[in-house]
Amino acid sequence: MTTKTILRALAGETLPTPPIWMMRQAGRYLPEYRATRAQAGDFLSLCYNSDLAAEVTLQPIRRFGFDAAILFADILLLPQALGADLWFETGEGPRLSTITTMEGVRALKPKDAIHDKLAPIYETVRILSRELPAQTTLIGFAGAPWTVATYMIAGRGTKDQGPAHALKSTDRATFSTLIDVITEATIDYLSMQVQAGAEVVKLFDSWAGSLKGQDFTDFAVKPTARIISALKAKHPGLPVIAFPREAGDGYIGFAAATGADCVAIDNSVTPEWAAEHVQVSGCVQGNLAPHHMVTGGDDLVRETLRVVKAFRKGPHIFNLGHGITPDANPDNVALMIETVRGA
Ligand code: CP3
Repeated sequence: MTTKTILRALAGETLPTPPIWMMRQAGRYLPEYRATRAQAGDFLSLCYNSDLAAEVTLQPIRRFGFDAAILFADILLLPQALGADLWFETGEGPRLSTITTMEGVRALKPKDAIHDKLAPIYETVRILSRELPAQTTLIGFAGAPWTVATYMIAGRGTKDQGPAHALKSTDRATFSTLIDVITEATIDYLSMQVQAGAEVVKLFDSWAGSLKGQDFTDFAVKPTARIISALKAKHPGLPVIAFPREAGDGYIGFAAATGADCVAIDNSVTPEWAAEHVQVSGCVQGNLAPHHMVTGGDDLVRETLRVVKAFRKGPHIFNLGHGITPDANPDNVALMIETVRGA
């Protein structure tokens, strides 16, 4: 029987105090992160430097004592390993070479060829599994195929995922083939993270909310279900967290439809709604609004207690509804943790 609280919650146990970690917990709001990133040179160099990536993963664990550490990497490293060009424009975000034709999809590398480029990521996982405190769970991750495809098709982040929706309607065959290529590569990428020591994996579908109706089933639910069943076949008992961000009603039944052990909830829905409609079928993670890490004060304490209370009757991992932002104040993170643990 494991004593790690995150693993207990993922196994369906209702704990008196929810375990806690935070999306983007290693990030620019921490001065020690900014110093290590400067040492690495830039963000991508940091991702591929196993020692420094492990160091920034450990920084929020040392400072705050979170119950889980998430591997420091990025969802766009997989498209890069498949052959896409990737760079980050300072102050703007990621840029990639675009893929909008079947020739473009066919020109991607076969999935067996991704591991050379990704070897430093597996090494980061191995370092972390040696160095993390005994009670801290190590989470590996990847982007879900739809979200990764939106960046590969548009070559950048987009507000409405327009280019990906356009390809989906004008050239369904190319779009579906791209989704399949990402899906199969993601299985191998996550499987290697697990072999290196990741104890849980999380799939980030940040743009799931823009898929509606049958598209949500075909491109959010089905690829996630395929990845989870393949991973669990290779790694029996592996817990998986799925994050179909802004899925709204799509959160209902998502765990059952995909085989996920936990559904991460964003802050566009209330914790009371999520407890009633999603937590009834298993563990949930979430869902404090990230802006409280900027604004702090009584609002932070009240809303933190509200999330804890709403999810108290079932398995829950406390988290934000999305990543912490660079303008956040680390003191507010400490206050949130103190509030959760003292509740
Ligand atoms: O959560 C963690 O601490 C683990 C590491 C992690 C990062 N990105 C580090 C990162 C994880 C899990 C991600 C996931 C990710 N990356 C997603 C899905 C989750 C989400 O936020 O919706 C997406 C869409 C990406 C792609 C990406 N990476 C974007 C759009 C950006 C630019 C936006 C920004 O915040 O600057 C990144 C850069 C990035 N990834 C940073 C970090 C810490 C900031 C880079 C820096 O230090 O300059």
